Amino acid sequence: MKKRGMFVAGNWKMNKNYAEAVKLAQELSYRSQQWNIESCICPPYLVLKGVAHVFAFDRAKIKLGAQNVFWAEDGAYTGEISASMLKDVGCAYAIIGHSERREIFHEDSTQIAKKVLALLKQGISPIVCCGESLELYERGQGSAHVTKQIREFCSVLSAELETENILLAKDQLVFAYEPIWAIGSGRVASPEYANQLASDIRRQLASCFSEELAQSTRILYGGSVKPANSSLFFEQEHIDGALVGGAALDAEDFSTIVESAQKLG
Ligand code: PGA
Repeated sequence: MKKRGMFVAGNWKMNKNYAEAVKLAQELSYRSQQWNIESCICPPYLVLKGVAHVFAFDRAKIKLGAQNVFWAEDGAYTGEISASMLKDVGCAYAIIGHSERREIFHEDSTQIAKKVLALLKQGISPIVCCGESLELYERGQGSAHVTKQIREFCSVLSAELETENILLAKDQLVFAYEPIWAIGSGRVASPEYANQLASDIRRQLASCFSEELAQSTRILYGGSVKPANSSLFFEQEHIDGALVGGAALDAEDFSTIVESAQKLG
């Protein structure tokens, strides 16, 4: 039995038009009747409402998440979406600081922490991503890099929380360790290596916040998680679930991954 509740999140990225999204949501709703661990699906913004309707109608045992957010509450920010808008359509989670956003849109720790704060104010749980490049991995600097990412993020977030006088609940944050070289590549980190990095993240959380918060925070592994390899990660002490990309686009694959987490949860 795991110390923390298992959690599987699916990231559809920029895939699925409206009709395709509704169909996949219906398939997932049906399968989710068998699930008793926490799970969520993060579709593109445009189909959040449609997927929310399907989940509500089918009483799906799966939650809704977004792939990003903007930190301001409202105003002149063309093209952006606020945390209260995500709350309004029923999002319980939002992925923040995915490596694709860090690389393509140059998101840094300060922006990521501001987005996390905006979500926390709305009662939405952020899934904060971190991970190292292939180059750093090959130089043996994965752990140092991820520790630095978490340290920077935590120090900005702590300062923001203090300014706003907000207390962080102990299971509100979720982290996803995603080695960049494993994302969409079919190449996975070894389960032992992923566990070590998850443990490094936990250690950093303990030093930034508290041991209690570190022990109750769920840390997911992401990067080419498939039905054939998911349980190897779920068996690891510090890994509490998965952030699934490609395999989340297939109802059967995603369902198999949730069910393998459930066996160990
Ligand atoms: P992948 O994506 O499962 O397709 O590797 C994971 C992610 O980017 O979150």
